[in-house]
Amino acid sequence: MDVTVKATVYKNYINGEWKANPDGEKVANINPANGEVLGYVTLSTERDVDEAVRAAKEAQKSWAKVPAPKRGEYLFRIGEILRERKEALARLLTQEMGKVIAEARGEVQEAIDMAYFMGGEGRRLAGQTVPSELPDKHAMSLRVPVGVAGLITPWNFPIAIASWKIFPALVAGNTVVWKPATDTPALAYEFVKIFEAVGLPKGVVNLVYGSGGTVGRAMVEHPGIDIISFTGSTEVGSEINGRAGKLLKRVSLEMGGKNAVIVMDDADLDLAVDGIIWSAFGTAGQRCTACSRVIVHRNVKAELEERLVRRVESLKIGDGLDESVDIGPVINEKALKQIEAYMDVAKSEGAVLLCGGRRAEGGALDSGYYFEPTIFTDVTRDMRIAKEEIFGPVLSILAVDSLDEAIEINNEVNYGLSSAIFTRDTNQTFRAMRELDTGIVYINAGTTGAEIHLPFGGTKATGNGHRDSGIAALDVFTEWKSVYVDYSGKLQRAQIDNN
Ligand code: SIN
Repeated sequence: MDVTVKATVYKNYINGEWKANPDGEKVANINPANGEVLGYVTLSTERDVDEAVRAAKEAQKSWAKVPAPKRGEYLFRIGEILRERKEALARLLTQEMGKVIAEARGEVQEAIDMAYFMGGEGRRLAGQTVPSELPDKHAMSLRVPVGVAGLITPWNFPIAIASWKIFPALVAGNTVVWKPATDTPALAYEFVKIFEAVGLPKGVVNLVYGSGGTVGRAMVEHPGIDIISFTGSTEVGSEINGRAGKLLKRVSLEMGGKNAVIVMDDADLDLAVDGIIWSAFGTAGQRCTACSRVIVHRNVKAELEERLVRRVESLKIGDGLDESVDIGPVINEKALKQIEAYMDVAKSEGAVLLCGGRRAEGGALDSGYYFEPTIFTDVTRDMRIAKEEIFGPVLSILAVDSLDEAIEINNEVNYGLSSAIFTRDTNQTFRAMRELDTGIVYINAGTTGAEIHLPFGGTKATGNGHRDSGIAALDVFTEWKSVYVDYSGKLQRAQIDNN
């Protein structure tokens, strides 16, 4: 196995070299399941960012000239190695991030799928060839790279979200400066080792560990970075947008969510319970697309609540490496405290606690960051738990009398990432598809489970109009160039000589 489970210090990777930073402040990489220290990350400085950007800028000149199908072949080889190392990477992912092993395997699979999907784009990168309005003239559009891409990625999907950004950036001819989250440095380290193993030219991918305040900010402000792609909180995304906007720098943002499942009174309730439990409590509620609201028709509210609580009682909490565990820890103590704080808020606003509501404790759980799967009911649309992203295993139930009311409540929050409806009525299904104001809509499934070949992202405070993943990701990492070839041998004036 070629995966380092216990690296002592994860080094930066700049211009094809692993670089230690002996003077930098060290932060421990902690397994949230049991407090074990897996390694240390060194916080980098503006100087490190500058070095990485210079390397990326230099490398981009030749990388852009590598034929796109060849760039795609690197991605295919990366996909192969990811496949070979899938189990080891998944185990490492569970150890440093906490999600249960089945989900960790799924996440590595997502990176594999993305490698093959974007590898194939090397032979497409399609523009348009259109007829010219003038005779003997050829008209077409081409995708060209933006330049150096600064990628800032989160801890909740340390390899999948990185792959959503790195692969389209590379296949399109950009080079990369990547700042992963400091909570998940080991996966980033292993990912970059794979880029090294396939012989990616030096400077094409550069890894710089560090804080958002120093490294992230330096990336956003560095004149050598042409595009920033960020996934994280709306607060930080909006700050990035402001700074980068002043510099007229392209920015792609994927931020918060307050995702809802609507359950109508004709729904298959067994199926709805499966979908809600999976999307609310999978990854301990720490997916951007996690379901945190159930908007249920009043006629089936009591029945749904009873079934949900019964199911929650059967969920096993613990270390995600144990295959029988359903819910792992949350990422760290700070997250645990934030979730805890919402319990008081909910109770003071009058929400009724159905189950959970506190840290999960006892035995081995005491050395990790565990929170019980929690359901509040009789939540009203004005309550904070109905509007704010909690990013933990906390679900709020709101009752409605009609589809119109359900759609209105779904759409009135600031975010617009994912939504879902359970119904057997085709008319309601199509109305929901049209009217739910989110970037992703599920029919008869929970709010999570995006596939890599469709766009991922959302409306309103969730994003800024760009999308990760799918072909749409290429729009983030390419400029359009329109090319006209006049082979008439004379001056032909568009809109004039042909009218
Ligand atoms: C995410 O929420 O970031 C992951 C994608 C998904 O499960 O839909």
